Amino acid sequence: MGKFTWLHQILSLLLMLFFHSVFHCSLGLSSSSINQTHLCSPVHHLALIQFNNTLSIGDSPSHFLCHGTSYPKTKSWNENTDCCTWDGVTCDKATGKVISLDLSCSKLAGSLSPNTTLFRLQGLRRLNLAYNDFNGELIPSGISQLVSLTHLNLSGNLFSGLVPSDISLLSKLISLVLSRTSCCGLKIDSHSFGKLARNLSKLENLFLAGVNMSNVAPASFKNLSSSLKRLYLLACDLQGELPSELFQLEYLDLNGNDLTGYLPTFNRSSPLMYLNLWGYDLRGPIPAGNLTKLTYLDGQLPSSLFNLTQLTYLDLALNSLQGPLPTHVSGLQKLQHLHLGDNLFSGTIPSWLFTAQSVDLHNNSFTALTNQNGFSRLENLTSLDLSKNNFSGVVKLDVLSKLKHLLVLDLSNNKLQSWSSESSVVNSAFPKLITLSLSSCNGRTFPDFLRSAESLTDLDLSYNKIQGSIFRWETQGWKQLRVLNLSHNLLTGFEQWPGKNRQVLDLRSNLLQGHLPALPS
Ligand SMILES: *[C@@H]1O[C@H](CO)[C@@H](O)[C@H](O)[C@H]1NC(C)=O
Ligand SMILES: *[C@@H]1O[C@H](CO)[C@@H](O)[C@H](O)[C@H]1NC(C)=O
Ligand SMILES: *[C@@H]1O[C@H](CO)[C@@H](O)[C@H](O)[C@H]1NC(C)=O
Ligand SMILES: *[C@@H]1O[C@H](CO)[C@@H](O)[C@H](O)[C@H]1NC(C)=O
Ligand SMILES: *[C@@H]1O[C@H](CO)[C@@H](O)[C@H](O)[C@H]1NC(C)=O
Ligand SMILES: *[C@@H]1O[C@H](CO)[C@@H](O)[C@H](O)[C@H]1NC(C)=O
Ligand SMILES: *[C@@H]1O[C@H](CO)[C@@H](O)[C@H](O)[C@H]1NC(C)=O
Ligand SMILES: *[C@@H]1O[C@H](CO)[C@@H](O)[C@H](O)[C@H]1NC(C)=O
Ligand SMILES: *[C@@H]1O[C@H](CO)[C@@H](O)[C@H](O)[C@H]1NC(C)=O
Ligand SMILES: *[C@@H]1O[C@H](CO)[C@@H](O)[C@H](O)[C@H]1NC(C)=O
Ligand SMILES: *[C@@H]1O[C@H](CO)[C@@H](O)[C@H](O)[C@H]1NC(C)=O
Ligand SMILES: *[C@@H]1O[C@H](CO)[C@@H](O)[C@H](O)[C@H]1NC(C)=O
Repeated sequence: MGKFTWLHQILSLLLMLFFHSVFHCSLGLSSSSINQTHLCSPVHHLALIQFNNTLSIGDSPSHFLCHGTSYPKTKSWNENTDCCTWDGVTCDKATGKVISLDLSCSKLAGSLSPNTTLFRLQGLRRLNLAYNDFNGELIPSGISQLVSLTHLNLSGNLFSGLVPSDISLLSKLISLVLSRTSCCGLKIDSHSFGKLARNLSKLENLFLAGVNMSNVAPASFKNLSSSLKRLYLLACDLQGELPSELFQLEYLDLNGNDLTGYLPTFNRSSPLMYLNLWGYDLRGPIPAGNLTKLTYLDGQLPSSLFNLTQLTYLDLALNSLQGPLPTHVSGLQKLQHLHLGDNLFSGTIPSWLFTAQSVDLHNNSFTALTNQNGFSRLENLTSLDLSKNNFSGVVKLDVLSKLKHLLVLDLSNNKLQSWSSESSVVNSAFPKLITLSLSSCNGRTFPDFLRSAESLTDLDLSYNKIQGSIFRWETQGWKQLRVLNLSHNLLTGFEQWPGKNRQVLDLRSNLLQGHLPALPS
């Protein structure tokens, strides 16, 4: 018995040695061509080359979210150089193992096969394949072999089908990004999400925009890690009541789902900085008074909103909100973007609102622009949309011309009786204006202040009562015009093509007679 045990142990030892040497041998063979002075681990060097060989460089244009910075990073990979120096590759200085691979915006085309050698990069902590040209196949479940991953970014429409449930094995993940730009080729089912929520205990960022979560019960969000800070759930086809615990995050985007629920009472230690509730069926008010860190809010109107001191972005569009706005507010000093379009607000526009640089009030019932001493606040305004309101009388364009920084102005569809300007302002008004719409404003002449609007590229004067001919003098200030809409007026003659770079000219429904001048090239 004793002898047999010894023999058995020696045999096992021999077997172990045998396998050990075979393993080393084969490793030595496959990496014999690899330069020994390189830092890069030979196993990783080979894995990267094999991975690279399964992909090609696509020719579709750069993804718009790459902001023109897309270029084929792998093109410069040279197998005779140290892979730790390759574009997008970062190695551990001590072990030579690849710890980060960033091939986002690299025009990669092809697909990740289930046995891709990418998964041999044991020790990989960060993997970013966002915005490439992959075939939109399944995310291979083998990705769960990369157990050291802390950051995984697969943004863009790279994959479709079900998110593999094995993703819950990546328990060191701090950031998981599967967002897409179009809904809903990628799905996650309730079983996988439940496992993910329970097992990824270090998760801080979870970005699942455009992933179909219609089978996921909102209650399962309760099981997400307590370290979660940012949750991005734009257009996930989620339905039902969301647990109010979720609102203890810094960043929460629920835009475009079919969710409902109450907001908790926030105390002053609430970390919430960004809250997008667009399309959220809120039961009860937004108790905003204590949200001292909030910088972005999109949802319905709470009165305490006006006390927020750090808010820079406020979007309450499309809410059927009514009545005049308060004339004085104690907060909102840092507001930069304000969207109150498609509501039922009425009365005079209070001047506090022009703290923002971009103000969109279209489709309301406002009747007057701010009181006289409010005009000084307009100086920094870059974009103003007052279309479809109840403004009446004559637009005093010389008053508006104090808005020296204005790039976009829309006054269309009001109950106006034309526009006027004093000749003194004609030469200095709107130096930066790019887009102007005065459609349906009862104008009778070409607005002469436009002669100094040298940057204007887009002008809409349709549905007015402008008479007479298009003469040379009217065209002098319109050098940059690309789009000019003069349709539905009373124009009778046409002696001069306005502008040189024009791409669109709409002259429908006028009283034009005679010949058109020769077309410019
Ligand atoms: C190995 O790499 C070093 C430095 O990159 C280089 O100088 C040397 O020529 C390489 N040797 C071979 C055989 O490729
Ligand atoms: C990686 O692939 C690109 C093209 O897809 C190729 O130009 C490059 O030579 C390859 N490099 C290596 C080391 O395989
Ligand atoms: C992966 O699997 C395919 C077939 O399924 C095979 O042709 C290929 O050689 C495999 N690649 C590796 C690196 O094992
Ligand atoms: C994912 O990667 C892309 C490309 O590098 C980057 O623009 C984006 O911010 C990343 N997403 C997150 C949530 O980190
Ligand atoms: C959770 O992660 C651990 C590894 O950290 C793993 O052993 C376990 O199987 C995972 N559980 C689930 C349900 O995925
Ligand atoms: C999400 O998937 C479900 C089936 O699981 C489907 O009925 C639904 O239409 C999908 N949602 C969207 C927006 O495509
Ligand atoms: C949360 O996880 C526990 C197990 O840890 C499970 O029993 C429970 O059903 C989960 N809750 C939800 C809402 O998924
Ligand atoms: C602000 O927080 C305090 C303390 O938690 C609470 O009593 C109060 O009701 C909160 N105010 C609002 C407007 O939510
Ligand atoms: C604020 O609210 C959070 C979550 O509801 C709670 O954990 C914390 O103790 C509260 N802090 C104070 C000062 O009330
Ligand atoms: C907002 O501030 C005013 C004072 O500026 C205060 O009277 C009012 O109670 C505050 N409202 C809320 C909801 O905090
Ligand atoms: C104007 O806003 C109202 C809500 O106040 C909305 O019902 C209506 O559809 C909007 N009209 C247009 C033309 O968008
Ligand atoms: C306009 O901007 C300048 C420079 O940023 C600033 O000093 C000034 O206070 C602003 N004016 C108003 C009315 O906000």
